[in-house]
This record gives sequence, structure tokens and C-alpha cells, in this order.
Amino acid sequence: MVEFKLPDNFLIGTATASVQIEGGDTNNTWYKWCEEGHIKDASSCIIANDHWNRVEQDTEILKSLHVHTHRMSLEWSRIEPSKGSYSKEAIEHYRNEIKLLLKNNIKPLVTLHHFSEPLWFQELGAWKKAGNTKFFLDYVSYVVEELGELVSDWLTFNEPNVFAKLGYIIGMWPPGERNLRVGFRVQVEIIKAHIETYKIIHKIRENKKFPGKTMVGAAIHIRIFDSTTRLGNMVARAADYIFHELFIQGMTEGKILFPLPSGGYKCKPGRYVDFFGINYYTRNIVEFTLNPLNWFHNLIGDNELDKSDLGWDIYPQGVYRVCKKYYDRYKLPIYITENGISDKFDNRRPDYICNHLIYIARAIKEGIPVERYYYWTLMDNFEWTEGETANFGLYDCDFQSQERKKRKSADLFAFICKNRGLTEAFINDYNTQSTAEKNTV
Ligand code: NOJ
Repeated sequence: MVEFKLPDNFLIGTATASVQIEGGDTNNTWYKWCEEGHIKDASSCIIANDHWNRVEQDTEILKSLHVHTHRMSLEWSRIEPSKGSYSKEAIEHYRNEIKLLLKNNIKPLVTLHHFSEPLWFQELGAWKKAGNTKFFLDYVSYVVEELGELVSDWLTFNEPNVFAKLGYIIGMWPPGERNLRVGFRVQVEIIKAHIETYKIIHKIRENKKFPGKTMVGAAIHIRIFDSTTRLGNMVARAADYIFHELFIQGMTEGKILFPLPSGGYKCKPGRYVDFFGINYYTRNIVEFTLNPLNWFHNLIGDNELDKSDLGWDIYPQGVYRVCKKYYDRYKLPIYITENGISDKFDNRRPDYICNHLIYIARAIKEGIPVERYYYWTLMDNFEWTEGETANFGLYDCDFQSQERKKRKSADLFAFICKNRGLTEAFINDYNTQSTAEKNTV
């Protein structure tokens, strides 16, 4: 760890998602996926962190971390439990949760779609049927009418590239579809839903003169693909195009790129985000193989690099590289909408956070307007098919007793938020304490 300083207007916070923390909802696609036995450790999202009943307690934790902003998602299946009928209770719950953040000076960034959907939407064929996209837009309009006065900053979709690949192309996530053609059609629907959502949010907030500057974006999962060989570089470019560019150019510019079916949607080329959202975690080394299907599955690590508990390479330079690449192209403000590490024993998290922030500080110094950083995540939670066995949290959580236990890096994070950086004095103190703690174990 070394000292660093971020600008005074830089916002730092944490990120969470409804199904991963709330518990208690049997009406969403992930609950069903758990019931069907697709989770590696056989756990379920039915309890998770019981956050639905512990909003106040968890907001106290956010306060103690001194976060300036918090990213959360709304659960569509709670808000619209059956098609066309909305739950006053659910929307009231979210209104109160958001009000509590605001009361504590924590700026909300709200995600409308974070992987989970109502079961009724899935039963109708979800994104496979072009006609269904309007149901998502109805939900969006309802939510923005109800909450748009409190929330100026929105994310339409979280990691649509991961969602489409795992859900519709390789069938690892709900709805478990394995069909490349369907996967490409679904991508067009999601791009379309994003663009229409962008317009709806702006329109409602402007018509109703809701306060604050409207900021709408999407959180795209962006990896670095590198290679050490010439043929491998070709694969890296192909992976980048398929995994990133189809969505990025679609959502940001309204371009439907080959091989997406262009007939599906006509949209005026334009700018359909107000900031560029990046979820950055890791890098993959790719190599050429004769079977192109393996190009996108056999992602290898770099033996030289330290890894997270999930085996992901720790490559902090990557955050600088992606910020530079997309700022050079779009000249938009950048929010790091997620960055984090699964590290049960909290050995690598302190350096992980600091080193990524140091690269962000470098980007800012070079004139790249990175404006926010969201650490994934507040507390260990339900990590999709990994279940309860990934540990990204600043807090550990005992899923039985629901006790939240602070990891040491939470103190580091709180200091960073409070001071927008790290000082040498803090680092010395922190290291001395860590060594003392290790010696007493
Ligand atoms: C990205 C996803 O948005 C989030 O839901 C997930 O838990 C983290 N990455 C960690 O894998």
C-alpha cells in the first residue's frame, strides 16, 4: 500500500443487488433457478442477507463506512408481482430505503435490472420475444414516476453482456437457453430496452421537473483480453468485439453491429448514456485454438499474477487501460460501477482496493474524468451460481445468524472514503495493527 489522493469531488461507495441481499422473494427467476438445484453449494437466495428486513441496520453500516454514494437495485418481481399490477408496499419500501440513504447524505445510484426478473416475464418468453420488451418499459415508467423525484442517477442494465451470454448462449443462468441465434436476438432486445429506458427516464424527470441533473447509464462488465502471440491477439480482438463491443456500441451509440440481426430494431444513431459505467475485475490471457468455440471459454490466467479466491487474476492496471480506452472514444464521464475481490481472509483486499484506486487517480491526473468508484460489495452475499461461498464483502455475513462482521479492510475503505485517499501515517498504523493481529492468531 502507498499513499494516494483523489479529487475532492470524487465519489466513493459500495454496490449491491436486490436478489443477492434481500431474501424473501419467491417470484423471481433466480429463486426458481436455486430450487431447481443449479447452485454449486446448493444454497439459495431465499434468505441471503435478509436485507429486506434489515435496511436500517445496513444503512448504519454504510454510514460507518463514510460512503458518499451507494449503488442498489430494485427487484422488478417485487414491484410488479403479476403483469400490470404493481405493489404499493414494495415501492413504498424502496422509497423509504432511498430516503434513508438521502437523509444520511448518501447519493443513490439505482439499477433497474440486475440479472433477476419476475417469473411471469420468463413464462412469457422474456427477451426472446420482441413484444415482451414493452413490459419492461412499463415497469420502468412506473418506477421512475414513483421514485424519480428522489433518484436522479440510474443504471438501466447491469452486465447485459454477462446476462445474455450465461442465460441465453451457454445456459448456465436462467432461463438456461443454449442457442447462439437466440442469444443474438436477445441482445438486440436488451439494447432496444436500454435506449427506450434512457429516453423514458429523461422524459419523465424533465416533464415532472424532478430535481437534480438526470444521469443514465449501463454497467458493462469489461475485462481485458490480452495475448502473447499474434494469432492469440486476433482471438483477443474477436473476444473483445463479441463480449464488449456489441453491447457497448449498441447501448452507447444505438448501433446494431454484425452479427446481431439488424432487421429487429431501427434506432437513430446518437448518445444513449450520460456516463460510461464499467464493472472491472480482471484480465484474461487468450490463446488461439483450432476450435473457435474455445476462444471464449478457455480463458486463461497469468501465472505471474496473484489471484482472488475465485482464481481471477489481480490486474489493477486494467482499470486504467479501460478508462483510457473508452474515454478516448466517447469523452464521457466514467463511473466504475463495480470493482472488488473475493477474499475470505481479507489478505489481498486492501492492496486490491488501493492499487485500483491508484490507477484511477493516475487516469484522473491525465485528464480522464473518472468520477465515481463503487466497491463490490458491502457484505458477503448470494453470488449467483457460486451461492454463499464467494466472499466479496467488506463485511462477512453469517447467513444463519445474520450477524455482520466487519473485515479489517472495511476500516481501510472507511478511511479512504473519509479522506479521499490514503496517508502514510494511516498505512503504517494499519500495517502495524495487521501484523499484531496475525501474531495473536
Ligand atoms: C458482477 C455482478 O454485477 C455482481 O452481481 C456479482 O456479484 C459481482 N460481479 C461479483 O461476481
